[in-house]
Amino acid sequence: MLVISNDPVKPQAKISVAANVDPHAGVSSSIRGSMFAGKCATCHVQQGIGKSGEDLYIADCAMCHGFRADGGEAPSLVRFNYSHKPVTAYVRDIISHGSRSHLSMPGFLKAAGGPLTAAQIDSLMQYLSWRSDLGK
Ligand code: HEC
Ligand code: HEC
Repeated sequence: MLVISNDPVKPQAKISVAANVDPHAGVSSSIRGSMFAGKCATCHVQQGIGKSGEDLYIADCAMCHGFRADGGEAPSLVRFNYSHKPVTAYVRDIISHGSRSHLSMPGFLKAAGGPLTAAQIDSLMQYLSWRSDLGK
């Protein structure tokens, strides 16, 4: 990292940032999908392997969407009406193929480069529908 200052003696200085503290150090916004690869997978993939429903949600989604799916870094997922088919189709599409506009939401379906089977995504849809009913 290059730091420019108004110090007349040394206007530029190279500083190094400890990389082993924050797992996201150096991660830019152009990393779509790479959270499933390499070391990133220890947190973003491996905990969800073989899981479904709530356990899978907690492992793979809660870190961004909140432990009750009511939002965190990322939007609430309980605000949707899961009895309305076009809405569930939209939600399933984003989970499977990712957001068109936001790099932090990659597609989770295996066919789209993600770690999850279609059956696992079904189980997430059931969990989210149940979770959203709880709030009504
Ligand atoms: C030690 C566990 C861990 C590792 C390793 C890890 N992440 Fe994360 N990641 C998290 C957690 C927890 C969050 C939730 C938000 C936060 O705490 O920053 C997150 C959030 C994110 C976000 C959303 C952040 C935002 O501000 O929108 C992206 C993108 C991301 N990770 C990508 C990566 C990539 C790419 C790698 C590998 C270079 C990686 N992560 C490695 C745990 C990890
Ligand atoms: C690394 C952070 C991160 C993880 C992990 C993550 N998401 Fe997201 N997700 C986001 C962000 C950021 C958005 C907002 C995208 C946008 O604005 O287009 C989003 C959007 C969504 C949307 C669309 C919401 C809307 O308001 O339109 C759904 C549905 C969704 N995520 C479901 C999930 C599910 C289910 C999981 C777990 C399999 C998951 N996400 C994992 C960050 C994440």
